[in-house]
Amino acid sequence: MTRVPFGIRGTGSFVPEGVLTNDDLSKIVDTSDEWIVKRTGIRQRHVVREGETTSMLCIEAAKRALVDADMDASEIDLIVLATVTPDQHVPATSCIIQHELGLTNVPAFDMQAGCTGFVYGTSVAAQYLWTGTYKNVLVIGAESLSRIADYTDRGSSILFGDGAGAVIYSSSAPRCGEVRSCSIEADGGGYDVMHQRAGGAKIPLTHELLDDYADKLVIHGRQVYQFAVRKFVELVQREQETNSDLELGGIVPHQMNQRIIEAARDRMDLPEESIFVNIDRMGNTSAASVPLALDEARRTGWFDGADGKLVVLCSFGAGLTWGSVGMKW
Ligand code: UT7
Repeated sequence: MTRVPFGIRGTGSFVPEGVLTNDDLSKIVDTSDEWIVKRTGIRQRHVVREGETTSMLCIEAAKRALVDADMDASEIDLIVLATVTPDQHVPATSCIIQHELGLTNVPAFDMQAGCTGFVYGTSVAAQYLWTGTYKNVLVIGAESLSRIADYTDRGSSILFGDGAGAVIYSSSAPRCGEVRSCSIEADGGGYDVMHQRAGGAKIPLTHELLDDYADKLVIHGRQVYQFAVRKFVELVQREQETNSDLELGGIVPHQMNQRIIEAARDRMDLPEESIFVNIDRMGNTSAASVPLALDEARRTGWFDGADGKLVVLCSFGAGLTWGSVGMKW
């Protein structure tokens, strides 16, 4: 079947005003700015304050993407939101976004693939766009991770930040980033490497469980670290093989840890400027990380010179899940 070509028509992002610095964290847990910078590259992260929600971050990011795309919200055919921190379990946060954008009858759903959520969302959008079912799909990755971070655990709480990134993929007048390939995979054997102990239908929250922080994120950092470096390299190399007619123009990876990015870059023997990094200011924002980075990279001219070249988005996270997108910029 011939595929309807599509690419990026607009991007937008939004982070809450609240900032949590490493020094702020060192007043809450036994850590230091020096340790966090050395081990993660993170200097600060944005965090939602009382009254701010994941949907609010999404709506602002989506509005900015619409302005960038020079489109009216009414042109959107489908809304996909990737998040592990929806406003609430029911209804889908994407329906709140749909309503706030003034839309009716447009399908909207949330999906969850940990930090790989945005790449999974792009892969879902691709199926509708390549087949010509829809022309314009809004994919958002957003998190309020500070709401489920365990601020008694110095090994995980130092990582997480909040924010939202939105991309409008379109087969009508895309501007850049023609999506040529998507790959998504999972290994549920690693389901407990990053998880919440309670708060779902299996173990509903009780006062005792809440007092025990059972609704907070547990991560086995070392295991995640090794898995991430391995997958990072595999995903990029696979996209390069699939798109072997294109020279590599840049990589926008999940911002998990600066050392993970550097280790993968060393293994691939790539120059520093080939990988976009904003983890120093954003921290690890899970599903929001790739679209936040993608939008910032576009706005700051990081893609200048990448025209006609291969741009790879790649991510890896809870599930375990991983995936990549190969674009002709
Ligand atoms: O995206 C989804 C979740 N993301 C991740 O899971 C990220 C992947 N993993 C990582 O980024 C890193 O594994 C971490 C940043 C989480 C941890 O870094 P690490 O280099 O793997 O440290 P470690 O866990 O091996 O701990 C080394 C030492 C330990 O002390 P001892 O046992 O050697 O005395 C820890 O207790 O560092 C200690 N430590 C800290 N010290 C100061 C752990 N966290 C901290 C901290 N401040 N925040």
